[in-house]
Amino acid sequence: MWDDLVPVGRDPSTGGYRRYAWSDADLTLREWFAAEAARREMPLVEDRNGNQFAWWGDPAEGDAVLTGSHLDSVPDGGAYDGPLGVVSGFAAVDALRTKDFQPVRPIGVANFVDEEGTRFGIACAGSRLLTGTLEPSRARALRDRDGHTLDEVLRRRGRDPERLGAEPELLDRIGTFVELHVEQGRGLVDDGAPIGVASAIWPHGRWRFDFHGRADHAGTTRMADRQDPMLTYAMTALAANKQARLADARATFGRIEVVPGGTNAIPSHVRAWLDARAADEDTIAVLVGTIRRLATERAERDGTRLEVEAESVSAATTFDVGLRDRVAAAVAGPGGAAVPVLPTGAGHDAGILSAAGIPTAMLFVRNPTGVSHAPDEYAEFADCEAGVAALARVLEDLTGPRDVGPRDTGPRDVGT
Ligand code: GLV
Ligand code: MN
Ligand code: MN
Repeated sequence: MWDDLVPVGRDPSTGGYRRYAWSDADLTLREWFAAEAARREMPLVEDRNGNQFAWWGDPAEGDAVLTGSHLDSVPDGGAYDGPLGVVSGFAAVDALRTKDFQPVRPIGVANFVDEEGTRFGIACAGSRLLTGTLEPSRARALRDRDGHTLDEVLRRRGRDPERLGAEPELLDRIGTFVELHVEQGRGLVDDGAPIGVASAIWPHGRWRFDFHGRADHAGTTRMADRQDPMLTYAMTALAANKQARLADARATFGRIEVVPGGTNAIPSHVRAWLDARAADEDTIAVLVGTIRRLATERAERDGTRLEVEAESVSAATTFDVGLRDRVAAAVAGPGGAAVPVLPTGAGHDAGILSAAGIPTAMLFVRNPTGVSHAPDEYAEFADCEAGVAALARVLEDLTGPRDVGPRDTGPRDVGT
């Protein structure tokens, strides 16, 4: 499976992956997913939002255990973020079948569409639509960098954008979600462990900062006469870095657009995206508020104007403690060493499903570089195999005969 995926959407000049939602590369990945499902005689379901599910057993029976992750990437992303979870899901099914295990409840492998939000700006768009936390009308109007709306792109790809929206029936069938993911830091390296279990996801979000100024000539406009939005942006980027350090948080401007973008012209407009994260929501609120205030004060001095818009905001996730402990015990195996339990600053569909009331857990596979969202992201093959074995033990535990399901089967709120 890995060999099939390696060339798809890889940029030869950087070695990074450019697998954006509904791009040609993404369609190839979707076909790959469908073929892997077919090869295992796992019926494929594509929900109204483009999320793919391969089922072992009939999901209509309910209390299903879902695993999987996503296949899209950030610009020049690594090979593992997302695909490792999908491949490991299929490989864990293979491992269970090889030993003739018969699950008493359905097992699903998922490919969630547009997890990174690279193309349309909203992280975890597929799982947000599924759970009703992204309005279909808002989603349809989202634009990519070429100005194409999601509505247009879906039509071009043979999908009906009018069908976007929550699927409470499908969600009701999912009793548990377990996402395996490459670790995106060095926690497991420091712990000397190949596999860990997640405790929490930091709250995080994306804010668009629009700095408006006055376009003019780079040679003839005296320095004192300029209204240069690049200056306001530059000070804002420095302030964001300093404020994040002071707050023990994270702030990143990873993307800017400069209009009109001439070397010999003062820009009229700089659009920049702030990614901010912290261990708790209050810290982010104060951090973003402070960055915004400092930017506005600077704009007054520069004669520029600032607008700020929240594009994608995710609340803190604390994973179900009972499930987390059960998963950690299954990963360790009888008499095995305790498995590290650690939080992450990276976002995941697991956070969205957890917020929708589905008991959710995550496994992390050690990443020796600690690097992620970049081509140096890595996992040793032996650790990937350990991840598959651990996931298989977890699925076996959760779908073997037992008295009590991991999930409270009471009603859940969808679309709040
Ligand atoms: C997704 O991986 C994110 O953390 O932004
Ligand atoms: Mn990612
Ligand atoms: Mn990911």
